[in-house]
Amino acid sequence: MKHIIDPLDLSVDEITELLDVADDIENNPKKYAEICRGKKLATLFYEPSTRTRLSFEAAMLNLGGSILGFSSADSSSASKGESVADTIRVISGYADICAMRHPKEGAPKVASEYATIPVINAGDGGHQHPTQTLTDLLTIRSLKGRLDDLTIGLCGDLKFGRTVHSLIKSLSRYKGIRFVLIAPEELRIPDYIREEVLRANNIPFVEVEKMEEVMPELDILYMTRVQRERFFNEEDYVRLKDSYILDMQKLRAAKPDMFILHPLPRVNEISTEIDNDPRAAYFRQAQYGVYVRMALILKLLELEVKADD
Ligand code: CP
Repeated sequence: MKHIIDPLDLSVDEITELLDVADDIENNPKKYAEICRGKKLATLFYEPSTRTRLSFEAAMLNLGGSILGFSSADSSSASKGESVADTIRVISGYADICAMRHPKEGAPKVASEYATIPVINAGDGGHQHPTQTLTDLLTIRSLKGRLDDLTIGLCGDLKFGRTVHSLIKSLSRYKGIRFVLIAPEELRIPDYIREEVLRANNIPFVEVEKMEEVMPELDILYMTRVQRERFFNEEDYVRLKDSYILDMQKLRAAKPDMFILHPLPRVNEISTEIDNDPRAAYFRQAQYGVYVRMALILKLLELEVKADD
């Protein structure tokens, strides 16, 4: 049984197959409408979510399956002190697969050690968010036609932004990838990403503070919000929250075929005036999240359908 806890739990070949199936799902949704009839997905969300939880639920419903779960720790028996290990042992009897989001790094990994169903990490603290990465890879491949030979700018809260950590890990396996890491000093990527992922794999990268100076180089600009919920004090958050605001003025220096991604939710970091620019891809990105999660559910339930069937 396979769990998805880290973006590297899937090989590059497995990711290619998943993205191919996701493309096929987008183009032939009816072919997939009954495949999960009788199967149940549990969404165990100990932390707030709009896209991840609802796109997982939409994915299972689109496949003809059913859903159950909770959307906050307060509405589950975690509020009475139940452990993740006990919860997942119980849920394993209620569902065929589960997606778990938890504020503690490593909680979905612990769950996977006690589960008898596949566990998908739907975001653990400031650590990893592998299904957002699948969404991002599908979006980039759909927009640019490739996942190699790209200069990827990542901007904002690179310290706490788990989507950034997972995306760097995953893209580091493709050839010709160069990262431009745009963050204030206090929100730079964690040391383990810099040393164990980038330097260990000889991936070219630069770290800068100003967005304007690097804009013309980028093929993708991946914006992130400053993660208020991970700060120890409100003063630091208030000081850093508007470090970057992408507006039309700054976008003028970008390539005409650069795309702007954002895992969302957005706070202030992308001006709404950008939303109608053809390069703004963040709402399309959220839609791709449904297709790729459908493909992932099929794979983990071993109900794979080849894209060319
Ligand atoms: N991108 C993402 O994880 O969004 P949610 O927090 O709304 O799930």
